[in-house]
Amino acid sequence: MRIIRTTRGLQTWRRRQDGPRLSIGFVPTMGALHDGHRSLIRRARRSCRTVVVSVFVNPLQFGPAEAYRRYPRDPSGDLELCREERVDAVFLPASDTLYPPSFQTTVTVTALSRRWEGAHRPAHFQGVTTIVTKLLNLVRPTRTFFGQKDYQQFVVIRQLVRDLDLPTALTLCPTVRDADGFALSSRARRLTAAQRQRACVLHRALLAGKAAIAGGARRSRPVETRMAARVNRDPPDGVDYLACCDARTLEPLARLRGTVLLLGAIRVGAVRCIDNLIVRIR
Ligand code: PAJ
Repeated sequence: MRIIRTTRGLQTWRRRQDGPRLSIGFVPTMGALHDGHRSLIRRARRSCRTVVVSVFVNPLQFGPAEAYRRYPRDPSGDLELCREERVDAVFLPASDTLYPPSFQTTVTVTALSRRWEGAHRPAHFQGVTTIVTKLLNLVRPTRTFFGQKDYQQFVVIRQLVRDLDLPTALTLCPTVRDADGFALSSRARRLTAAQRQRACVLHRALLAGKAAIAGGARRSRPVETRMAARVNRDPPDGVDYLACCDARTLEPLARLRGTVLLLGAIRVGAVRCIDNLIVRIR
């Protein structure tokens, strides 16, 4: 497994891959890798000849510097997981190699970035789309893999790839969960056992919303009321949103139809947890 720490090194490695059998699968991450990341790497391994993983905690997508500093880091564990999964190359750059002091360009997907997570984390998606554009230009992957756990991120990046004609295909992979339904996340490393137990109320609330739809609800209001009621039975330290929207446009829906996204964000201690479910209505 090649460990690459500079953009120059990555570009040199990448040029050597060019050829008639080129098939590069790319999994961008911020490290503190877990079984959710592992499932993306396995999916890439199954469909591509060469697999590249990037591990980079991107300062541009964090709000207060605090949150960036507190983000969990585990480079040796990350390299071990990548080795286990037979990754070909890991890009593990230092922050100043991607953002030298003269850096001044950003990439923004406008409307889709404003909703939901964007409303609570201004400039977050601009940070994501800027780093993803850079990483796609460096890795030039045939296919790039994302998790449904961050569904809005996927929709924003899909728009970015379309709008800027970026030459990569995208694959969305299912959310990997713990036995109690909690969606695995790097940030959850910072939850105490008791907090971690309380955090699974988010998934339970989304399931209550899904059950309301299965029971015949066809308007957002009653579904959102059911989700709120469930979360209030075991209240976390904060609820940022619990809502239904159109899975394609992310616009709120009064009347539920087509492919509906149930999504939520809560806070437990200092940790924000997000999750979602997709429900198809026939
Ligand atoms: P990170 O949070 O490390 O996530 C990297 C990828 O793993 C994302 O596509 C995310 O959706 C996926 N993922 C995380 N938890 C998952 C789970 N429980 N099941 C399935 N997939 C999961 O997302 C980012 O990093 C960054 O924003 C990044 C795209 C790398 C840009 O900095």
